Amino acid sequence: MSAIDSVLKETRLFPPSDEFRTKANVSGMEGYNALCEKANNDYEGFWAELARELVTWKKPFTKTLNDSNAPAYKWFEDGELNVSYNCIDRHLEARGNKTAIIFEADDGSVTKVTYRELYERVCAFANGLKSLGVSKGDRVVIYMPHGIEAVVAMQASARIGAIHSVVFGGFSAGALRDRIADAQAKVVITANQSVRGGKAVPLKATTDEAVALGGCESVSKIVVYQRTDAAPEQWSDLNIWWHDLVAGQPADCEPEWVDAEHPLFILYTSGSTGKPKGIQHSTGGYLLGSQVTMQWVFDYKENDVFWCTADVGWITGHSYVAYGPLGIGATQIVFEGVPTFPDAGRFWQMIEKHKVTTFYTAPTAIRSLIKLGGDLPKQYDLSSLRVLGTVGEPINPEAWIWYHEVVGGGRCPIVDTWWQTETGANMIAPLPGAVATKPGSCTLPLPGIIVDIVDESGAPVEPGKGGFLVIKKPWPSMVRTIWNDPDRFKKTYFPEEYNSKLYLAGDSANRDENGYIWIMGRIDDVLNVSGHRLGTMEIESALVANPLVAEAAVVGKPHEIKGEAVVAFVVLKGERPEGEDAKKIAKELREWVAHEIGKIAQPDEIRFGDNLPKTRSGKIMRRLLRDIAKGQSITQDTSTLENPAILDQLAKSAI
Ligand code: PRX
Repeated sequence: MSAIDSVLKETRLFPPSDEFRTKANVSGMEGYNALCEKANNDYEGFWAELARELVTWKKPFTKTLNDSNAPAYKWFEDGELNVSYNCIDRHLEARGNKTAIIFEADDGSVTKVTYRELYERVCAFANGLKSLGVSKGDRVVIYMPHGIEAVVAMQASARIGAIHSVVFGGFSAGALRDRIADAQAKVVITANQSVRGGKAVPLKATTDEAVALGGCESVSKIVVYQRTDAAPEQWSDLNIWWHDLVAGQPADCEPEWVDAEHPLFILYTSGSTGKPKGIQHSTGGYLLGSQVTMQWVFDYKENDVFWCTADVGWITGHSYVAYGPLGIGATQIVFEGVPTFPDAGRFWQMIEKHKVTTFYTAPTAIRSLIKLGGDLPKQYDLSSLRVLGTVGEPINPEAWIWYHEVVGGGRCPIVDTWWQTETGANMIAPLPGAVATKPGSCTLPLPGIIVDIVDESGAPVEPGKGGFLVIKKPWPSMVRTIWNDPDRFKKTYFPEEYNSKLYLAGDSANRDENGYIWIMGRIDDVLNVSGHRLGTMEIESALVANPLVAEAAVVGKPHEIKGEAVVAFVVLKGERPEGEDAKKIAKELREWVAHEIGKIAQPDEIRFGDNLPKTRSGKIMRRLLRDIAKGQSITQDTSTLENPAILDQLAKSAI
């Protein structure tokens, strides 16, 4: 039985307990259905009401949705607001002394910041940015350790109407340079080092390297936060310490009121071509998405301690660290380190210590923690937990059941949240007090999110028949465009095959007889490695940029912990290497990819061949490569292959 069949046969149902349901923000299926019906009856009215309730507007909007230039949709366009005001200022009166962030550093030391203190830090840094000449619409690249300052930098950027582009601290100099250059950033904010799992990562040195690669002439200053005692190797007029920048800055800063459609940020993500896409998000609609999902999906309550483990370098860290929890006035954990340091009990120890109520992490982390210490959670008091969440990739039913029983004590609903960088907020997920969960399914769309599964012609498929996941109506937190590339935006997400009317998510999915949705994986050349999106073309371009390499093809194969692993088939310019030679070159190529893109993109396996399997017209047959990578024997027709003998060679060449 294939993995797909086995998840579709999953019939265990976990309804919310009576206790959870009665206290939930959306209670029971009656509550869920009532919201869906409201959205169906008056779609715009439904979103407008939520936008008025959950967002504080400087100038109220009068228009809800403008679809006159679809698919460049606009939401709440004549309204004015500021995200930082919504995330901080509006809480000061009632929650000034409430803890906004509990920061736990890699070494276990804890720093707490109240909403009042956060306000002061954000205002001082916002004033600092202004003193560097940053103003509304300017781009600011943030390449920082996951921590309070990263959140402060994002909030400060939002406060002055600048547009941030956060680059994950694990990305290489080349990846950073490409993002700085594409956004034409005025300022880069970094740190001398970050610390993860006891090891220092040289962020400042990588930033220097990125700038030295060229194309970053737009950058007029690099702000450096001093995270460790290590002195930077290089220092020039381009650099300024964070502490010097904020010294003497006033602790108040009037927010820049912007239109709802003003871009809040750009976040680069991989697609099916070699060049990452700068996903551009709005101010008003995006903020609404993060707020409403905190209420619905995480069932937010005033005394909750919310913990999303994602780094701010990813969309999950944007919506459920930097914006969602603060927007709603929550207390949240920000954790600098990794789940396995100093040991695989770290998450559970932190949940006990900080009395976490809501815990949101990735299936890959769950799987690795099961492997490294499946009994460890039992050593900790996890009774504070109320809601558990997962994101980023499908969760296998075994891992789900472990999460439910061992971590959640059988008591906490699991919200399996399907969404994407492009959607801005959770889209398909169970409302925990309403929708009964099934292990491995993200269940039902949120109210006001109209999804379908269609075939190639755009026609809905029957339950049980797989198809393409689409979203049929625009929603407030949706991607607005691809930075610098509006044509690619239209072609990728609103293809003409579907009359430019359906949002194509890029995932295949299935719906069971209860209407529950099961995500099956990507339909494009995108891999999902440990919940991170990687374009195969991106890795291929990095490989062929190496002077030794003539040709490369990258595919994924299932991996027990990471979900998917990267397998690279490589043809060298010289002879096909064997034995020790092959191992040495494979190591070199892995390091090369880490240097070109980042460690997350390193191939797990490299196979050298004299050639790649191609059709007579020269097309690489990836289907066959995927079978070889999985170790499966080739049963398909290979008669169109130019060079069938290559299959045998590649099958024997794993390193
Ligand atoms: O394939 C889906 C998978 O992750 C993709 C989006 O990746 P990214 O933009 O990096 O955002 C990840 C965090 C929101 C999707 O197209 N994905 C995300 N969540 C799930 C998922 N696959 C299955 N189940 C999920 N809950």
